[in-house]
Amino acid sequence: MQNELTRRNQLAELGGGEERIQKQHQAGKLTARERINLLLDSASFVELDKFVTHRCTDFEMQKHQFLGDGVVTGYGTIQDRKVCVFSQDFTVFGGSLSGAHASKICKVMDLALKTGVPLIGLNDSGGARIQEGVESLGGYAEIFWRNVQASGVIPQISMILGPCAGGAVYSPAMTDFIAMVDSTSYMFVTGPDVIKTVTHEEVTKEDLGGADAHAEKSGVCQIVYPDERAAFEGVRRLMSFLPANNLDSAPRKETADPIDRSNQRILEILPDVSSKPYDIRLIIEEVIDDGDFLEIHKAYAPNIVVGFARLNGQSVGVVANQPAHLAGCLDIAASTKAARFVRFCDAFNIPLITFVDVPGFLPGTKQEHGGIIRHGAKLLYAYSEATVPKLTVITRKAYGGAYDVMASKHIRADLNLAYPNAEIAVMGPDGAINILYRKEVTEAEKTGTLDQVRSNLIQHYKDTFANPYKAAELGYIDEVIDPAQTRTRLIQALHLLAGKRERGPSRKHGNIPL
Ligand code: HXC
Repeated sequence: MQNELTRRNQLAELGGGEERIQKQHQAGKLTARERINLLLDSASFVELDKFVTHRCTDFEMQKHQFLGDGVVTGYGTIQDRKVCVFSQDFTVFGGSLSGAHASKICKVMDLALKTGVPLIGLNDSGGARIQEGVESLGGYAEIFWRNVQASGVIPQISMILGPCAGGAVYSPAMTDFIAMVDSTSYMFVTGPDVIKTVTHEEVTKEDLGGADAHAEKSGVCQIVYPDERAAFEGVRRLMSFLPANNLDSAPRKETADPIDRSNQRILEILPDVSSKPYDIRLIIEEVIDDGDFLEIHKAYAPNIVVGFARLNGQSVGVVANQPAHLAGCLDIAASTKAARFVRFCDAFNIPLITFVDVPGFLPGTKQEHGGIIRHGAKLLYAYSEATVPKLTVITRKAYGGAYDVMASKHIRADLNLAYPNAEIAVMGPDGAINILYRKEVTEAEKTGTLDQVRSNLIQHYKDTFANPYKAAELGYIDEVIDPAQTRTRLIQALHLLAGKRERGPSRKHGNIPL
């Protein structure tokens, strides 16, 4: 009896056999089980449905049976915290999805949802199992539906570790984070061959749907790793910032970094001239615990920075305009990137820290015709509906509509701070002078005194508006602070807001402008 169990276990663990395992390794990829072992704490994995087989009899499929049917599912721990996983086994029918394979994934998804445990999917699959036809398509849709049920209840993370094509891409697409591995993973709805037939475009798999394409161009992928081992290490780190579910809090990480550490260095980071760029990440790293910042979506829309950090041990989501790219303007890509991040943090009780240095929305027909009105509204909507603690620091510019959008007091930020050099106004001095003093400027042009007149007018405008004091007088800024106090003030506010409770009106759901 014991022999039979051992025999079956060994058979299941062999997947598609030695030869195919070797092929997998030669392609620079690990096997489904090797991956799970690297992702989870050592010896923590408990496998489910190890002996499941497919039920297909078309194309003589009954003669080709593999225990487990091309996907390894189960649960284990990461840093001693529970997670559910599935890992597709490319050595069995190319990891393709049969009805049985789909049922195994659905079962572990159901388990994750009912126990409030995050789900991590390791994807490496040729897509729908061609021999099973519509049963496979139905299996995909069952997974998609569960992705949606689980959305905002448990964190869902997709790791793409090989092919992910056709409709199969839509399960990862509905999860919270997609991680890809350089050179060995790709995602597309229609591949290079179909594209060539239909549009006559020629493109390689890598250029079409490789990690860089999705990290930089489409924004589909949030994190790229150079290889699989780095990817598992990276996802373990990401998990350390996240709670297990929407009713839980993220784990605390104790730190020796003092609450009252002065951020004097910010004064050196901020340039003397307000038109000069600087890297906002330097300010983020200066303020947070131990400079430990996990940036998400780094290569996409670099004019806004988003990522996870901790303040006095508590996980926070950071959103920050990046003056080093496009002067930190908000555009379509930046708005959608930040909106999605804000909604994730709000769903999972992670307070939001927003650093503002934004000259406005990026002008141009490309932006207007691309729908900046609709996409910019996503960020405004996301911040407005978020009920987690929202803390805002204006480091320099906060102009126009972008001032409102970037977690202003009016859309219910809990604490709004500004540095003394902050400029808060409808628009920058140059644009404002051209409109307010059109007559004077034209006159000065005629008399050859334009430079002098303009500089006087700009100085007058700056004195009146381009400072934080008007906003502070109105109570839109709670405190104008010395930048050195940033860390202390944020931690004090987080402490105060730990018990924040806020509920919106009862409704089925809002209608975010998609
Ligand atoms: C059944 C499949 C398969 C599939 C691969 N295999 N894809 N079996 N159904 N979809 C099998 C192969 O027959 C082969 O079996 C083994 O897996 C490895 O495949 P290779 O082709 O030898 O590997 P490789 O050269 O690395 O190419 C991988 C690949 C290619 C690029 C994924 O196999 C491929 O193009 N497969 C078809 C992809 C596809 O069109 N899928 C349907 C997409 S549409 P042996 O026995 O030789 O080892 C879709 C719809 C989803 O998925 C809809 C959801 C709503």
